[in-house]
Amino acid sequence: MQLKEVLDKYPQSEDYLIEILMDYQKHKMHHDLTEDELKTIATHLNIKESKVSSVVTFYSLFSLKPKGQHVIQVCHDVPCHVNNQPDVLSTLKTMLAIDIGQTTDDKMFTLEYTSCLGACDKAPAMRIGEKTFTKLTPNKIKAIIAEYRGRKHA
Ligand code: FES
Repeated sequence: MQLKEVLDKYPQSEDYLIEILMDYQKHKMHHDLTEDELKTIATHLNIKESKVSSVVTFYSLFSLKPKGQHVIQVCHDVPCHVNNQPDVLSTLKTMLAIDIGQTTDDKMFTLEYTSCLGACDKAPAMRIGEKTFTKLTPNKIKAIIAEYRGRKHA
């Protein structure tokens, strides 16, 4: 989706800045926002570019750095941690050959921590994009990653 299409969906008001940023970023393959895009948004809303930049840098859900096509967020809160989250994490790190905060060389996956995903009763849990996976085991993770790799061009 083009930036103009997103901007046209919202009233031309600063009140919609965060919604616009979230909406646009989720449509980008690498989940990032560029300086040019921030400038375009600022101009459209008739606000200072520094205002847009400060919002983007304040909230961790926004990124100025390209991420992998699929962002894997591993829950690191206590209920998951005591339910084998360390095994989940080490399986992911080994399979993807990256650490938390890194992106695979083929730009397919980025690995991140997240707080509770609301699935504590089915811990350990992780999210890829908008999908939450629960009761994770190393074998389940291998199958999930293989499935995502299989639909590389989807
Ligand atoms: S603590 Fe991990 S889903 Fe709630």
